Amino acid sequence: MCIHLRLVTLASDFTESPQELTMDAIVVYESVFGNTRAIAEAIAEGLGSVPVLPVAEAAKPRDTVGLLVVGGPTHMHGLSTARSRRLAAEGSHEDGAGHVDPCATEEPGLRSWLRDLTPTSAQCAAAFDTRLDKSPWVTGVAARGIARRMQHRGLNVVATESFLVENSEGPLVQGELDRARAWGATLARSVAATAEHPVEA
Ligand SMILES: Cc1cc2nc3c(=O)[nH]c(=O)nc-3n(C[C@H](O)[C@H](O)[C@H](O)COP(=O)(O)O)c2cc1C
Repeated sequence: MCIHLRLVTLASDFTESPQELTMDAIVVYESVFGNTRAIAEAIAEGLGSVPVLPVAEAAKPRDTVGLLVVGGPTHMHGLSTARSRRLAAEGSHEDGAGHVDPCATEEPGLRSWLRDLTPTSAQCAAAFDTRLDKSPWVTGVAARGIARRMQHRGLNVVATESFLVENSEGPLVQGELDRARAWGATLARSVAATAEHPVEA
């Protein structure tokens, strides 16, 4: 069951706009080393402190949410697999280094969770990923695979974005948390504006 929270966002500026709009949104993420989780939490903050859930705890998306934001780490040029997550977690444990997120190897992972989306899961959607700080031609971009899967499920994907890590286990490149917060705030404004002035088909 998706958690729904009525939240208040400001139409044009979070500090001084007098006009308040309501919308519901949720951020769902997958993360092995915690970098994508940190980005997901920053995006949720930018959206207006909306719920943020690891995909393993997000359950099947049955109800319509206003905005569904989904993200994960880039593994082998695309979305992670159960195998890539397990290998990453095991390698980190063997090295005796780094933090592994509690849900890192749990099921469902993003791939199978995305399969259960339907056109009514969300009025609109956005995708993000984390990846290495190199050309996307070299790294691949998981957000593209997430967006494509959501589009195939009939969702209206309005934005995709990548956030960068210095190395596989992190840290995030400096400034990426601020950029994620700003991306969330921009998403909230554009979704609210579209809801207020829908584009005629
Ligand atoms: C098995 C594995 C494969 C990876 N493959 C890629 C890749 O193809 N491109 C890339 O940019 N980063 C790759 N990375 C680095 C991840 O993008 C990085 O670990 C991730 O962004 C960190 O997010 P997390 O802390 O949420 O797990 C890979 C990491 C692992 C563990």
